[in-house]
Amino acid sequence: MVMKVPFLKNRNEKVHDRKQNIPEHIAIIMDGNGRWAGKRGMPRFAGHKEGLSSVVKIVKAADKCKVKMLTLYTFSTENWKRPKREIDFILKLPKEFLHVYLPDMIANNVRIEAIGNMEELPVSTREAIQFAINSTKDNDGLQLNIALNYGSKQEIMNAMKDMFADILDSKLSLDEVDEQHFSGYLHTAGMPNPDLLIRTGGEKRLSNFLLWQLAYTEFCFTDVLWPDFSEKEFMEALGEYQQRKRRYGGL
Ligand code: FPP
Repeated sequence: MVMKVPFLKNRNEKVHDRKQNIPEHIAIIMDGNGRWAGKRGMPRFAGHKEGLSSVVKIVKAADKCKVKMLTLYTFSTENWKRPKREIDFILKLPKEFLHVYLPDMIANNVRIEAIGNMEELPVSTREAIQFAINSTKDNDGLQLNIALNYGSKQEIMNAMKDMFADILDSKLSLDEVDEQHFSGYLHTAGMPNPDLLIRTGGEKRLSNFLLWQLAYTEFCFTDVLWPDFSEKEFMEALGEYQQRKRRYGGL
C-alpha cells in the first residue's frame, strides 16, 4: 500500500510506503528544553518536565511504527557542568518516568536498557533503572535505551583499556581485533548501529553522543525544541530518512 508522505513538496517525487524502510534503530539528542521554558518565562526545570511528555509520545510513536530500538540521550558526562539543582532534577526524571509508565511499557512488550556510567548516578535513579531493566528483560518489542551519564569518548577509551587488558591477559590476540570485535567492548555491545539520528533544538553537533556507532547513520536536524517534538515531527523525520539513499561509501 502506498501512503502519502506529507512533507513532500514536489508531487512528482516518488511517494514511499511508510511500512517499508523503517529505521531499525533511532537515536535522539533531545535538545531545547531550557529554551522552551525560557520562552515562556518559566524555570529551566519546567522545560525538562515538559520534555518528559515528549519522551512518552515518541516512545509510543516509535513502537507504533515498529522501530526496533530507540536510544534517548538523557544526560551526558558533560552535563555535570550544570548547576546542581538542575542536575538533581534531570537525574530524578527517569525514576519519575518509570514510576508512572513502567506498567505501560511492560504491557506493550517494551524492553528497557541503559547505556552510560551508572555507578556515578544517585542510588535511587540507578535502582529504578535496574528494576526496569530486570522487569522488561524478556520483552522482545521496542528496545528503549536510556543514555544516562553517557559520553562517547569515555566509552571508547574504556573499551580500549578493557580490550588491551584482554590482550595482555592472552584472552585475545591482536589478530582477532577488528571493528566488530571492538564494538563488543562498548556499552552498545550487541546493538545495531543507529540508522537515524534526530537532534532537536536547532544545534548541529553530536555532543559526544555515539561517535563510533554513528559512522554511517543518517542525520536529521530540526529547529523544533524537544518539548514541542511530537508524533508529527517524528513522522516527518522518518519520511526524510525514507528519502535518503544509503550508500555506505559505495555508489
Ligand atoms: C537538553 O536540553 C536536555 C537535557 C539535558 C535533558 C533531557 C532529559 C529529558 C527530556 C528527560 C528524559 C527522561 C527519560 C526517562 C528518558 P537543554 O536543557 O540543553 O536545552 P537548551 O539547549 O534549550 O538549554
